[in-house]
Amino acid sequence: MKPTQPFLSGPVLGIETSCDETAAAVVVAGRVVASRIASQVPLHQRFGGVVPEIASRNHLLTILPTIDAVLADAGVHGRDLAGLAVTNRPGLIGALLVGVQTAKTLAMIWSVPVVGVHHIQAHCWAALLQPADHQGDDWQQPTLPLLALAVSGVHTSLMKIAGPEQSEVLGRTLDDAAGEALDKFGKRLGLAYPAGPQIDQLARRGDPRRFDLPRGMTGRADLAMSFSGLKTAGRQLVYRLIDDGPLPEGQDLSDLCASYQDAVVAQLVSTTRRAIEQTGTKDLVIAGGVAANTQLRRDIATLCEQLEVRLFAAAPRWCTDNGAMIAALGSSILKARGGDDPYLLDATASHRKSMPLVSGAAPQAG
Ligand code: KG4
Ligand code: ZN
Repeated sequence: MKPTQPFLSGPVLGIETSCDETAAAVVVAGRVVASRIASQVPLHQRFGGVVPEIASRNHLLTILPTIDAVLADAGVHGRDLAGLAVTNRPGLIGALLVGVQTAKTLAMIWSVPVVGVHHIQAHCWAALLQPADHQGDDWQQPTLPLLALAVSGVHTSLMKIAGPEQSEVLGRTLDDAAGEALDKFGKRLGLAYPAGPQIDQLARRGDPRRFDLPRGMTGRADLAMSFSGLKTAGRQLVYRLIDDGPLPEGQDLSDLCASYQDAVVAQLVSTTRRAIEQTGTKDLVIAGGVAANTQLRRDIATLCEQLEVRLFAAAPRWCTDNGAMIAALGSSILKARGGDDPYLLDATASHRKSMPLVSGAAPQAG
């Protein structure tokens, strides 16, 4: 039987400005036809992290040229869009506002519906996009409700997703996000921001057993995670090794990256195992920037094979922030219930307000 696709058949423009990428994409029936990402990473690199004010100002400069370019790539005029989707929560408030105001204005000028979408939910929806190597409109979709592991630079959570706007957080990190833990460790090693992709590369040549690092909270029955103990242990390890000397390099650097990455991945995999066992899910989605990580993808695939769960991993290029994931989720929401009132559409910075935890799950700081 042909899987039912949860997307509108017409073109939807997705706009993402919640952090340091100005991104836009056009998605038609779940297929990405054009995508542009104007990355601000070089602007923030010398500060070792994202500076909110610099991010907002640069979104202002690049948003309209990025939208113009992506519509030209797709060969679509704004008035011919079936809808417009924009990240409106959570994120840096000034950065979000640039995207939201632009989307509202364009929706009114072009007379097309607009919808505000949740950034983390959109990361997960990227796993539903047409795979690049698939021809035709019959690619496999997960059965809802599904379990999702969302791992990015700011969020780490396990969620039950029952529809484009129905999600519950079953557990999340009590402190740092997995991506943040990787980025901060990399910074100590002298790697440029964001360090996650470089750690991924360096770890391939490293020995994950050379340095013994904590693997999160063991013996817990709930789905809470924690990366702050690992972050502290990593910092102490680097201080001890450097001891006023030069930064580690060569095999030492690779072994440090492999050992630290292994500790991050081990905790994500063991908590996901518990979540699969507790929920009895048959379908798992992994998404968000850290889901591009080679070891995480491999170890989660092994876990899914063992537990006979179908894995829907967002394609690596749609793991880090992009407009396609926003268009994908927007397309499904528009299909399910139509657009928002453009006059009322607003931005919400807070993670807690935009996605409360189900009762009984572990709280998160911040
Ligand atoms: O989803 P994302 O682009 O932005 C947020 O919503 O936060 O995620 C960015 C995070 C950064 O922490 C970055 O280091 C991490 O994803 N990341 C990776 C890899 N690619 C990006 N971490 C590990 N391995 C990768 N290949
Ligand atoms: Zn993100």
